[in-house]
Amino acid sequence: MVAERDHDTSSPSLPSLSKQLAGTTLGGSADVPVVDLSVSDEEFLVREVVKASEEWGVFQVVNHGIPKELMQQLQVAGKQFFDLPDTEKEAVAKEGGFEGYKRDYLEGINNWDEHLFHRLSPPSVINYKYWPKNPPQYREVTEEYTKHIKRLTEKILGWLSVGLGLSRVALTQNIGDDTAEYALRINFYPPTKHSELTIGAAAHSDMGAIALLVPNEVPGLQAFKDEQWFDLNYINSAVVVILGDQLMRITNGRFKNVFHRAKSDRERVRISWPIFVAPRDDMSIGPLPELTGDDNPPKFETLLYKDYIDKKIKGWALEGLHSLLKT
Ligand code: SIN
Ligand code: FE2
Repeated sequence: MVAERDHDTSSPSLPSLSKQLAGTTLGGSADVPVVDLSVSDEEFLVREVVKASEEWGVFQVVNHGIPKELMQQLQVAGKQFFDLPDTEKEAVAKEGGFEGYKRDYLEGINNWDEHLFHRLSPPSVINYKYWPKNPPQYREVTEEYTKHIKRLTEKILGWLSVGLGLSRVALTQNIGDDTAEYALRINFYPPTKHSELTIGAAAHSDMGAIALLVPNEVPGLQAFKDEQWFDLNYINSAVVVILGDQLMRITNGRFKNVFHRAKSDRERVRISWPIFVAPRDDMSIGPLPELTGDDNPPKFETLLYKDYIDKKIKGWALEGLHSLLKT
């Protein structure tokens, strides 16, 4: 199952709540890494993506081979959907599950949450009921984009595997090869003026393995590193790669599950299109024996992915209760 964004309280490097909410502590000179995939020296590329994964857990890739026109079509289709009248959007509304359209205001964390979420792959898990029929090109464009994202994801996981001294297919295999689930979430953040604390997506790490995201032209994504928040200076047409909890766990903590958040803009609508890649529910995930040893014992429990999700959600609920009791 591809789990949606959530609020990690189980991460050993969880920043304190005050840091999570501090809107202004922005890092200075450092920048989220950018990796140019057109470089022909593969060893160099492998080193770059590994370094970015170890130090940041997030990077942008440029010259990734996904046609610009297709990225634009994806964005036009998403925007057209969110511009529809409510009744039309509600044609694909959630019905108690993860998939579908939802609009909600989460008071506790002062968080506007409007999004569309549905699975993309493998074909056996797709439920077209939650794919918009309007705009009419939505399905074709999304399917075409998914093909490219799958190829790019496998390439990146291949480079990361090689960089870890493993076979090229090691990470892909460990998240279940073709059974790994891909899901799209389109986040819609309307402009917000009324509160400094109103951020788009509250700070979290992604539960799955990896996510590939494109935003519209409005900035807002921030990554947490060395106790500070950094703005992502998005390069037009780049793809943002975000490492999630499972890559951190598989690599015994060598790769970072980046803590990140998104702010909404005061004037303009911000939209983002992350595609999450996650193991199936019943995949067992933990540190790879090749990456552990006497000098580096496993730091994480091996768990079925569904049990990991349960634990994380429970941890979040307990943390919420704890902070309520303290206030
Ligand atoms: C997310 O990580 O859930 C959203 C990030 C973004 O909107 O840029
Ligand atoms: Fe996220």
